[in-house]
Amino acid sequence: KANGLAQTPQMGWNSWNKFGCNIDEKTVRRIADAMATSGMRDAGYEYVVIDDCWHGDRDANGFIQESREKFPSGMKALADYVHSRGLKFGIYSDAGTKTCGGKPGSLGHEYQDALTYARWGVDYLKYDWCSTGTLNAESAYALMSDALKATGRPVLLAICEWGNNRPWEWGKKIGNSWRTSSDIRDAWKGREKWSIGVVDIVDVNEPLYPHAGPGHWNDADMLEVGNGGMTDTEYRSHFSLWSLMASPLIAGNDITNMSAETRAILLNKEVVAVNQDRLGQQGRRVRDDGDLEVWSKPLADGSRAVILFNRSEKPAEIAVDWPEIGLTRSVRADVRDLWAHRSVGKIAGRYAARVPAHGVVMVRVTP
Ligand code: GLA
Repeated sequence: KANGLAQTPQMGWNSWNKFGCNIDEKTVRRIADAMATSGMRDAGYEYVVIDDCWHGDRDANGFIQESREKFPSGMKALADYVHSRGLKFGIYSDAGTKTCGGKPGSLGHEYQDALTYARWGVDYLKYDWCSTGTLNAESAYALMSDALKATGRPVLLAICEWGNNRPWEWGKKIGNSWRTSSDIRDAWKGREKWSIGVVDIVDVNEPLYPHAGPGHWNDADMLEVGNGGMTDTEYRSHFSLWSLMASPLIAGNDITNMSAETRAILLNKEVVAVNQDRLGQQGRRVRDDGDLEVWSKPLADGSRAVILFNRSEKPAEIAVDWPEIGLTRSVRADVRDLWAHRSVGKIAGRYAARVPAHGVVMVRVTP
């Protein structure tokens, strides 16, 4: 049974990409404040999620406790603080004996941990897959899903298995999203055992589009926008593609200290609206000319979000022909550039634009 959450892809912030294991209550409070004052919350970023390494030990009865050094006021007080800022509160655990950061996992403590989270006021659980040995992934995630439901508190469940157990085939009834790749790296491309760059994630995540829909999404991993490893052009491509692929939009940068460009990317409401469109269809690649691609996502009002994507090392002209996005050639459609924030005009047949190297032009085509 689905929990009814994430009817559009979840949006929020997570501590991991920027802070790793250096996360504490002071940082989370500053982030929650900044989410409210920077416009992030009002743009739809709702969940503040603490990733790995918040844990202390289990108590004598097996209940998990927060690290008293990092969270001296306690997790309940922190959740209250986040809620008081008009935001929701998320946390992280793992289906195995230990989290990926070596903290206590939930194996054998699923109902007890779900109860603890509910008492703290947790609204979101990211549930990881380290130290799981021979566990069956579907059963392990179903167990925690049932435990969360038994608390009576609605908790979004983000499945963080990395695609090896094909979570898109069973994740729908169990959780609200599932990772499709190993961990994102703040880099344009490249694949190592434990990390993968943006364009390589895109190629892993794209073919899975039939599995996404309201309540259950392919998670291309958390955003690196603003973390410094890519150019602003590359970050715009990253954000545009995640939005069009209906991936959860979980910012992973320091919200308290954003450049104007980072702000303009994360707070682009026209691009966020594509991600949050209520039709809930994951967009996909509709043409692939080597390094030059056309992507399209059908939207609830009958329009299409379209990305002209240039993977190459030099600027190029890319065109979309109306039939590629399901429109008849003769139809005159309004074309609006979602990064320039201006209408390009009423156009029939095709739209062509010059696209920077590693960049996108993203438009909304409304017949
Ligand atoms: C795994 C997950 C990451 C992050 C780390 C924390 O690698 O895929 O997103 O949660 O664990 O240790």
